[in-house]
Amino acid sequence: MGEISVLDSNIEHMVRMAILHIIQLGTKHGVFKVISRGATQREVLDSLDIPNKKLLLEFLNTLKAIGIVEERDGRLKLNGFSYRLDVPKNHYEALLPGWVAVLEEIYRMVDYAFITPTHPHVLMDFDKDADFWDIRMNTDFAALYREVIAKTGGIDQGSSVLDLGCGSVSPYEFGKRIGYDGLYVGVDYSPAILEIARARVEGESLPVELKELDLKLLRPVNEYQTTVMSFIFEYLKPEDYRRVLRRALGTLRPGGSLIILEPFRDNFRHIEALEFFERLNKDFKRFPAMSEVASLIADEGFDASIKRLGRSLLKVTLKP
Ligand SMILES: C[S@@+](CC[C@H](N)C(=O)[O-])C[C@H]1O[C@@H](n2cnc3c(N)ncnc32)[C@H](O)[C@@H]1O
Repeated sequence: MGEISVLDSNIEHMVRMAILHIIQLGTKHGVFKVISRGATQREVLDSLDIPNKKLLLEFLNTLKAIGIVEERDGRLKLNGFSYRLDVPKNHYEALLPGWVAVLEEIYRMVDYAFITPTHPHVLMDFDKDADFWDIRMNTDFAALYREVIAKTGGIDQGSSVLDLGCGSVSPYEFGKRIGYDGLYVGVDYSPAILEIARARVEGESLPVELKELDLKLLRPVNEYQTTVMSFIFEYLKPEDYRRVLRRALGTLRPGGSLIILEPFRDNFRHIEALEFFERLNKDFKRFPAMSEVASLIADEGFDASIKRLGRSLLKVTLKP
């Protein structure tokens, strides 16, 4: 299996596991029990002993989006949802164990978030919980997607790279890859994440610059050979996509490429299950659709080719 297929397979499996955990939560917190009596949404919200009603409402919306529950004549109904989980050899040999442990932590956080979104056991804030994010960005899965990004974007000795929403691990990993004669600029709005990134590159004499900035305020400079946006669109409002894409493409030299990595919602069925867990991070919005990102780029009138690589990768290359 090629690296891009392995990446897609792992994301697919994250979604499958998330569905199972949604079903587990619905059972554990008595949500299915109340719904099976034919309650209205309001009755479900009122009767369950879950203080965080906003999260409970999001949970009900997730059940509807996946198709476990439907609303008919003002009442919620379990609609006989059935889900098949296969364990084929070729799929499982591609699975990377690292993300499973991280997602397990996140599933557990929901019980606390059901009490209050600010519960100390909910560790999803980029600043307050930068350490947790650092662990998440340092798994075997993250190493794989960085490898895929580097190969797809031609990031190598001497490259010039701009990484938007760089996180705490990519600056070191991409910095090492481009060696001493390239340039890597990482932009991130979280001071705590950047502090960890700085500690990692410090003393290595790598050509890494880190800037604390909201990427929505980026100024296009036509300087870079490769611009990377990896797991970033999910934190942007869809109404900001166009402006951000225009600016990101504006950072490239002629012939340069923008690499976008995302679990695109039009390519992964039931992605809403994974979104429910990701939303414990208050900045999370939704996973973008590959088709909406691609058509916005086409709309902007850049002289560029757009390549869809597998289900989670877009490569946009400006004409030389
Ligand atoms: C899920 S992490 C991904 C990090 C890295 N791109 C990777 O793939 O390993 C998202 C990162 O984007 C940063 N971020 C989110 N929204 C941002 C924005 N509007 N401007 C700058 N950074 C942002 C967060 O602080 C966090 O470090």
